[in-house]
Amino acid sequence: MANIKCIGILTSGGDAPGMNAAIRAVTRTAIYNGLEVKGIMRGYKGLIFDEIEPFKTNSVSNIIQQGGTILKTARSKEFQTPEGRQIAYEALQREGIDALVVIGGDGSLTGARIFAQEFNYPIVGLPGTIDNDLQGTDLTIGYDTALNTIMQAVDKIRDTASSHERLFFIEVMGRECGILALNGAIASGAEAAIIPEMSIGQDQLGDLISNGFRKSKNSSLVLVTEGDITGGAMAMAERVKTEFPQYDVRVTILGHVQRGGSPTANDRILASRMGAAAIDALLDGQRNVMIGIQNDVIVYVPFSKAVKKNKPIQPDLVETLKVLSI
Ligand code: F6P
Repeated sequence: MANIKCIGILTSGGDAPGMNAAIRAVTRTAIYNGLEVKGIMRGYKGLIFDEIEPFKTNSVSNIIQQGGTILKTARSKEFQTPEGRQIAYEALQREGIDALVVIGGDGSLTGARIFAQEFNYPIVGLPGTIDNDLQGTDLTIGYDTALNTIMQAVDKIRDTASSHERLFFIEVMGRECGILALNGAIASGAEAAIIPEMSIGQDQLGDLISNGFRKSKNSSLVLVTEGDITGGAMAMAERVKTEFPQYDVRVTILGHVQRGGSPTANDRILASRMGAAAIDALLDGQRNVMIGIQNDVIVYVPFSKAVKKNKPIQPDLVETLKVLSI
């Protein structure tokens, strides 16, 4: 068994509902196994600026239902430099922290990977991001809650879209990953999703937006992934206004509402399982892996694989949306 007596835990990057459930699971599983736990505030910044506090079982009481993260979060510029990482390493040594659990997305786990290599330091990651864009895991903590938030928002937009017979472009988060837009569209019965994984030509766009009206529906809802690749909902709406002036077009950008709120049961359970698995992994001698879930089984994914770009989209999702929106 690895000689780990004290673990540090931090959340980094964009917050995600379920991060608190993960913090709770990591803390309590560690204490159950006789380990000491230290909470590091504001992500990697807390290591650099020495914001570290001891955690007991009751430090994580009454948080499983809360969105956000009690540890706060940040995207640390300092940690991106070798000097910053050296300061972070010295803080870990000084505090007697033998291993780290890092909860975050792509950028946070990339930072963890670099740090682990540079200092030969044990780190286990948990995929905490609404984007569900990490490879080697079917799900990330926060994705299910964000997806439900999107569905509920689109349901509401549908009422007004239908009353005014309008075409709505609804922009959702996800960076370069279209899974929130695609599954959000299926869940809310939208006409289409415009996602970075699939380019859409002018002819297709025309077909797509006139679908709803031609097929005797009186409104159309199209979900669009944010970002440079799709151009986002505003760019799409401008294009349509010029090319198809017959449509009364509106745009809604859902924004950070997607990141907040109480986590769903699925996210709480996922975070609890993954948090417990992170401690089991460290005690088993695992290093520099992200905890993932595949077909409902917990797996260890090397950081190098987890942070690879372009997680594939299941083709049947694209087909299902197309067929069901006729
Ligand atoms: O990675 C999570 C995420 O919410 C992305 O979907 C989004 O592009 C980004 O973070 C927004 O970041 P910020 O809160 O810094 O604006």
